[in-house]
Amino acid sequence: MKIEAQQSLKDYNTFGLDVTAEQMIRVRLDSDDYRNRDISELKKILKANKQRLFILGGGSNMLLTQDVKGLVLKNEIKGIEIIRSFKHCVHVAVGGGENWHKLVLWAIKNKLGGIENLSLIPGTVGASPIQNIGAYGVELKDVFVRLEAMDLKTGKVKTYYHQDCDFGYRDSIFKRKLKGKVLITRVVLRLSNAPHKINTSYGAIQKVLAEKGIQDPDIKAVSDAVIEIRSSKLPDPDKLGNAGSFFKNPEVSATKYKQLLKAFPNIVAYHLDNGKYKIPAGWLIEQCGWKGKRIGNTGSHAQQALVIVNYGKATGEEIKAHADRVIKSVVERFGIRLTAEVNIY
Ligand code: EPU
Repeated sequence: MKIEAQQSLKDYNTFGLDVTAEQMIRVRLDSDDYRNRDISELKKILKANKQRLFILGGGSNMLLTQDVKGLVLKNEIKGIEIIRSFKHCVHVAVGGGENWHKLVLWAIKNKLGGIENLSLIPGTVGASPIQNIGAYGVELKDVFVRLEAMDLKTGKVKTYYHQDCDFGYRDSIFKRKLKGKVLITRVVLRLSNAPHKINTSYGAIQKVLAEKGIQDPDIKAVSDAVIEIRSSKLPDPDKLGNAGSFFKNPEVSATKYKQLLKAFPNIVAYHLDNGKYKIPAGWLIEQCGWKGKRIGNTGSHAQQALVIVNYGKATGEEIKAHADRVIKSVVERFGIRLTAEVNIY
């Protein structure tokens, strides 16, 4: 494990922003190191370190508006392994640095179900619990068993079970109390053996399956449908820099929803179990005229207004300024303040 100085992060964030890390270490524990807890080298480095630490996974949910001071820990811990088999499911342990979509493809190839609806989500497995990734009716928490994470101060590895993680919508304890304090080394997921519980509750999936004439979809068919939907709406970060949904979908009270419905009869909203209503941020942003609008090097995506894109030469500050413009106009028109889903540095 060596320290690299003045490392460009351009290839390590999906917005493609060319900022520099003062120092960077690629954390590459192999599974034997890991099993033996022989992580003394990393511990030593962390112990000696006096600088600010910054954890980088796939950089797919991050807006870097400035150079990163201090030491970047790039999670490159690999390994996908079935560690326990039960009658109807298996427990799979995955290194935090594995690519999420690679894991989904591995699961489908091995006929293991549960994460097919989460196909094509960019980023690493270690980042997936942080914001409890979710799409098409499934969230990470639905398959999560436990994770192991290293305390960056003490170097100790601790296990966090489901109840310890305090999962919420695009939220967990790792986004709040433990933010920047731990490195997620390994995640254990529960994947099902056939027969799988197929989730096609989402209208868009049903539509694609119907178009293909598939009546009894398997996990591969669901994954293919999700890939098709995502590819049609969400820009490929290799071609057009972006970090997926830039904002969270806001929740409003029933009273606020009634007021909105009166003023905007065509409003889109989902009734939640807690009595509140979730309004798609994409709809709010589109209503404010931002969909497909470009300003300089950045703008709101033409197929999905919730995504902010880098047309190639944008700086993080320009993107942030665009996000602020969007927030301001949504507040003015709807009285709702959008909050960022991406982490802003
Ligand atoms: N809509 C618009 N205009 C737009 C975009 C959306 O009017 O430009 C309205 C439409 O009515 C549409 C509704 O919003 O029916 C919902 O849109 P979509 O199905 O695209 O989902 P979303 O709520 O915009 C969320 C997640 C996505 C996830 C999809 C599918 C958040 C912040 N985003 O988007 O996650 O893929 O649902 O489950 O919850 C991500 O987190 O990066 C991400 C892409």
